[in-house]
Amino acid sequence: MSSARTDQVRAATIEAMTTTTASTAIDEAFERYLDEHAAERLESYKELVRIPSISALPQHAPDCRRTAEWIAADLRHIGMEHVDVSETGGHPIVYADWLHAPGAPTVLVYCHYDVQPVDPLDLWTSPPFEPVVEGHRILGRGVADDKGQLHLHLRATEALLATRGSLPVNLKFAFEGEEESSSVHLDPWLNANRDRLSADFAVISDTGFFEGNLPAITIGLRGMMYAQVDVTGTAVDLHSGGYGGAVQNPANALATIIAGLKGPDGRILVPGFYDDVVAMTQVDRDAFAALPFDEAAYLERLGLPALFGEEGYTTLERRGARPTLDVNGLWSGFQGEGGKTIIPAHAHAKISCRLVPDQDPDRIFEAFRAYVLAIAPPGVRTEVQSLGGGHPSVTPIDHPATRAAARALEATFGREPLYIREGGSIPVCASFENELDLPVVLLGFDPPDQQAHAPNEWMDLRNYETGIRTVARMWDEVAALGRDAFAR
Ligand code: BES
Ligand code: MN
Ligand code: MN
Repeated sequence: MSSARTDQVRAATIEAMTTTTASTAIDEAFERYLDEHAAERLESYKELVRIPSISALPQHAPDCRRTAEWIAADLRHIGMEHVDVSETGGHPIVYADWLHAPGAPTVLVYCHYDVQPVDPLDLWTSPPFEPVVEGHRILGRGVADDKGQLHLHLRATEALLATRGSLPVNLKFAFEGEEESSSVHLDPWLNANRDRLSADFAVISDTGFFEGNLPAITIGLRGMMYAQVDVTGTAVDLHSGGYGGAVQNPANALATIIAGLKGPDGRILVPGFYDDVVAMTQVDRDAFAALPFDEAAYLERLGLPALFGEEGYTTLERRGARPTLDVNGLWSGFQGEGGKTIIPAHAHAKISCRLVPDQDPDRIFEAFRAYVLAIAPPGVRTEVQSLGGGHPSVTPIDHPATRAAARALEATFGREPLYIREGGSIPVCASFENELDLPVVLLGFDPPDQQAHAPNEWMDLRNYETGIRTVARMWDEVAALGRDAFAR
């Protein structure tokens, strides 16, 4: 792009960023500060996105660390204190705090700086780590999940400290680098850091709005059980004419196993799988039914011939309150063009289950493993290994912090939020609730069709911009309640 064209796009972007938020003022100085720093803010957002912090790929470990260092430098620069790139045994967690609001509540904010892998690369319209702005959208890996949300917290804090010289609340940040790879080092780190993580409640900004980009507070997340199934036959591939019929085929055997995991009606056949599932109450079902959901538009957006799921439940119930079992990856044998007549030496599947209260990821893994081994055809070796997991969670809708978040969303986005149960998983949510005894508010700003984890991930810059105001507004709301409102 020519530099004149770049300038034009930047001017249009800044125009969009500032005009759409004019009605959401926190206070005049805060708004003026944000207006004056709009270009710098966008540049800094892009800088953060440019570092390819893919936590799952070992070759990107230095990039994860570099991202943590980038965030730490930014935190120091804006006036946060005790900034620490803290070792976990894996990618570091960035901690910082600002604790000079005596008598005011203390809030712990969590986001993650790691991102998902970018394949298939050829489906991206621009390189994933070279963010570009198109109208109200910024495109790039992590712009929504979750660097955009992390960045908007930094900018809200910056603007408050720069214009007021103080924050309305005591603020602590914990920014994780392994959320996209099952948070394996998180729980031990949380336990070792209990004291400096103490707070009146936690805010997790890693969720999004409802269909149609309607402001929403997520009140439920699913948990996760992730496993890999490996089926092995001979040491090398065999000629399928010379040996076909005489030996078991690992790919066929794996297909048999997968076919045995679910019935045609979508029910999961692993014995005991549903034992701990908490049935929805009529109140839960009414809440799902009351959401403004256009199923036809949803189907149209997906470009599918039909939706599919467990019988007896609506789409939103299936997605938010029912468990699943899905193949996430499957490979074996010859993948090239044309034919190659072999019996593959081995076959593999990555399979995950989304879990709902009160399913336990470890128990589900054991049940899954036992069942796979029981239905595995003879003549090959079948192994099942765990790739991690996380607990489901439901957060309180009537907690004073949730109510404050709702007021802040309404004040800045101009409409009351919906309360939704999401299908995704954020393992730290249950850890905060159960290990640290912290109430959690899931305050997230992603547009619902942001293509997280997929090619052309995008963030709506209006959500990002208004999100900055929402966060500042929420801290003011929370401070007005005073610390006693959060006594437990
Ligand atoms: N931000 C998502 C979680 C999410 C997804 C929340 C959709 C609300 C709606 C998070 O980064 C994520 O992708 N989590 C993983 C966790 C897994 C790797 C344990 C997920 O849900 O697949
Ligand atoms: Mn995320
Ligand atoms: Mn994610």
